[in-house]
Amino acid sequence: MKAILITAAAVAISVTGPSALAKGNAESGKAKAAQVCAACHGPDGNKPTGPDFPVIAGQHADYLKRALVDYKSGKRNNPIMKGFAATLSNQDMEDLSAWFASQPSKLVSRR
Ligand code: HEC
Repeated sequence: MKAILITAAAVAISVTGPSALAKGNAESGKAKAAQVCAACHGPDGNKPTGPDFPVIAGQHADYLKRALVDYKSGKRNNPIMKGFAATLSNQDMEDLSAWFASQPSKLVSRR
């Protein structure tokens, strides 16, 4: 099954080209996170600096990206995150989502 999925993904990439599937770069996300997000969520999203700040490590990248898009648009209403999301480009969101998604979460042991 896994092999089928990998093959399907490879086919999808070769058909659509990598740019259509442009996903975040976790390494540049790490650098961006260290500058801004770490102050509340911790550098890896695992060490929130207070009980009001969610753990975002290990969350699905799509979920994180969606949250950031919705904060920016106001669809998800939070005055704190709106301010930070407003400064992020689409690529920033992809990179940050890739970074935090790649970090093992302390909430669940799935790795
Ligand atoms: C000043 C503190 C602060 C900073 C800095 C901050 N956040 Fe947040 N973040 C919060 C708070 C508070 C929430 C919870 C908001 C809510 O209830 O929707 C949150 C929520 C989130 C969520 C949604 C989590 C979930 O489970 O739905 C994501 C994703 C997120 N932040 C990403 C980031 C990213 C990426 C950055 C850096 C660009 C960042 N945050 C910077 C305070 C902060």
